[in-house]
Amino acid sequence: MDGRDLVRSVKAVSSGGAVQGLRTVRAAWRRRRTDATGLPRRGAERARVPGLVQSAEPGPGGGVVRFARTELRITVAVNGAVFWGWDGAEPEPSYALAGRCPEPDPRAVLEPDKDGGWRVVAERVTVVVSRHGAIEVRTPGGVTLRRDLPPRWWEPAEGGAARWMQRSEVAADARFFGLGGRAAGPRLRDGTYRLWNTDPGRPFGPGDDPLYITMPVQMVVADAGTHLTFLDTSWDGTVTLREGEEGAGSGHDRAGTSEMRMDGGPLRCWVMVGAPARVLLVWASLTGAPAVPPAWALGHHHARWGFGSEQEVRRIVAGYQEHGLPLDAVHLDIDHYDAHRVFTVDRERFPKLPLLAEELGRQGVRLVSIVDPAVRAEPGDPVFDSGSAEDAFVRDASGRVVEGVVWPGEVVYPDFTHARVRRWWGRFLEERRAQGFAGLWLDMNEPVSFTAFGEKTLPRSARHALEGRGGDHREAHNVYALCMARAGYEGLRNLTPEERPFLFSRSGWVGMQRYGGTWSGDVATGWPGLRASLSLVLGLGLCGVPYSGPDVGGFDGSPSPELYLRWFQLASYLPLFRTHASIRAGRREPWEFGDDVLGHARVALAERRRLLPYFVTLAHLARRTGAPYVRPLWWGAPEDRALRDCEDAFLLGDSLLVAPVLDPGAERRTVLLPRGRWYDTATEEAHQGPGPVVVDVSKARIPVFARAGAVLPVRGEDGGLELEVWAPARGRSGGGLVVPDPGDGWDEPEAERYVTRWKGRRVVVRRDGGEGRTEPVYPVRVRGLGRG
Ligand code: NOJ
Repeated sequence: MDGRDLVRSVKAVSSGGAVQGLRTVRAAWRRRRTDATGLPRRGAERARVPGLVQSAEPGPGGGVVRFARTELRITVAVNGAVFWGWDGAEPEPSYALAGRCPEPDPRAVLEPDKDGGWRVVAERVTVVVSRHGAIEVRTPGGVTLRRDLPPRWWEPAEGGAARWMQRSEVAADARFFGLGGRAAGPRLRDGTYRLWNTDPGRPFGPGDDPLYITMPVQMVVADAGTHLTFLDTSWDGTVTLREGEEGAGSGHDRAGTSEMRMDGGPLRCWVMVGAPARVLLVWASLTGAPAVPPAWALGHHHARWGFGSEQEVRRIVAGYQEHGLPLDAVHLDIDHYDAHRVFTVDRERFPKLPLLAEELGRQGVRLVSIVDPAVRAEPGDPVFDSGSAEDAFVRDASGRVVEGVVWPGEVVYPDFTHARVRRWWGRFLEERRAQGFAGLWLDMNEPVSFTAFGEKTLPRSARHALEGRGGDHREAHNVYALCMARAGYEGLRNLTPEERPFLFSRSGWVGMQRYGGTWSGDVATGWPGLRASLSLVLGLGLCGVPYSGPDVGGFDGSPSPELYLRWFQLASYLPLFRTHASIRAGRREPWEFGDDVLGHARVALAERRRLLPYFVTLAHLARRTGAPYVRPLWWGAPEDRALRDCEDAFLLGDSLLVAPVLDPGAERRTVLLPRGRWYDTATEEAHQGPGPVVVDVSKARIPVFARAGAVLPVRGEDGGLELEVWAPARGRSGGGLVVPDPGDGWDEPEAERYVTRWKGRRVVVRRDGGEGRTEPVYPVRVRGLGRG
């Protein structure tokens, strides 16, 4: 892109400033008016609590406990998850569930407890209901993991959705994680977190909350055990967290608390207990196995808002090649559309997209297309005309189609909560395929409407199909992007049934992993933004969404060479490894930051490529077990309090520990190692955990450690698969899993299990399979011999 192009694009965007400004003022007033007439006024409210227990009726997997003013259904499912619902709430319908609700576990029974309460005893958990309606979740050993106080409702005297509040207590030593993508994590400190998917409207840092993906999902880790709770409602609400405090000496403990307040929706909850890996396994069996991205999507992506022309795309790809930098995908942003209208192409600047895609394809580079939900509201626009004929757009309570303002100007919004609309919209993906795109980048789907004031989204009174149940935006808002991702996934699958779809979406909700991943959105350029990037990936992983990553370098401004490099190095170990920036930001190509950075970026890219088989394996394991690729250090040792508080390093699968550099000017950093022996992969020096070690951090690398005994698949110099084995400690054994890349189709190859141990003075590796132990067919390289 030359200077004139840039100026043209910037002008187009801040486009006719005054016109767009006027539109956003109009949109804000429209929104206000629509809600004033479309929403019931909240008059006087009546508060309610369950009252005293009256009776109980055992049923499959649990039963129903009746209170004076409500009833509570408890069911333990066969996968070990516990469901309870107040006021007649059932597990279905739910946008979170992957399919039907799992069957009840017939072994779990409701029985009387002391003091007039009731309890359900299951294999891994006991749930005790007090006579006032408090619910305790206990381990089989009887230790309390969580205590939910009796809920409280506020019901409008004139009818309508009840607000409710659920206060819970957890152990004094407990730490909270999750709640979707939070910039100030991964450990969620005291504060109020909102549950309303939000485009902050400017690059965000750790202080910004909420962001694009919020989820009422909480992972709680304490000495007594780990549990995950999910209050299954998509309405607007808040969660206020307060970590507990242990009494010093003879003082009392103060419990940790979590208080959820919702504006409506059912009060129903799922709880899973056990080791973190088990919790995520059950979670994935409930909300869906994560989609496996094609192998190329586990490589390096380069995006930019404002490539501006085919020539510029070619220039960037050639730059990667000339500098010896591997590249797997290029993402085209809204500037390749004709006047920002979705499913179009600016033919002047991108005259031969299919040819470009083919040409890049020959070089191993795929094209990915941004797709926004909003459709320009203009008769003559084919998507608008077709959608109007199909009655596809969201309407308000009076029946008028709701208009908002996004990049193309005045727009309307497909109602993705309707199966017919998802199918209609999915057919437009044929246009993207014909242009040569191999994947989708779903954006602005909170959904956004630019308004001069008030909330930058649809009116709360806007009507949605909600799969035929009917409802308004208060309920549909948080699942809008989830449904759009579903439309994208199913649309791509219909078009090319033989290929696994690739998409990632800025917004989403519980269960979005079924369709694809996400990225961190517009993270602010700066060291705090770098930290926030890691927080988001870790937090989302614990909520079941394992594929994500940040805009390397941050979305705005110009990172210093050092910051860019540290971001690049971190992201090279994250599932989605993508450079991207705003049209107004400085360059993000690795060669724009000097020879030093270029050289180190080349090393990071080469290492990413070498680790590709490991990433492929992690993607398949995530699908099979729900375990995220990127895990907090406490993943295998949740009882280790120091690890629970460590937020500046992570495990990549079982084998590697990555300690990114998150501060400027660092020459050394402390790395907290979990139990066992760990090798510094650069020096092969061995360190013994648990405990801190201090390592040097040159510009050339961020510290990465390999677990002793790890067997990990890597790409050899000839491109074939090799096994990298890290010597087990003497007298110990080790192992690892390998899932060979099945290509872009649906094959799910068996995971190969390798074991390693010392045999005399040698480390040997064997495949552990049906026919006993056999020699691996891949070359093996043993590392970590003889040091430390
Ligand atoms: C907002 C997205 O977060 C960003 O990544 C994208 O570049 C712009 N929209 C323009 O499409």
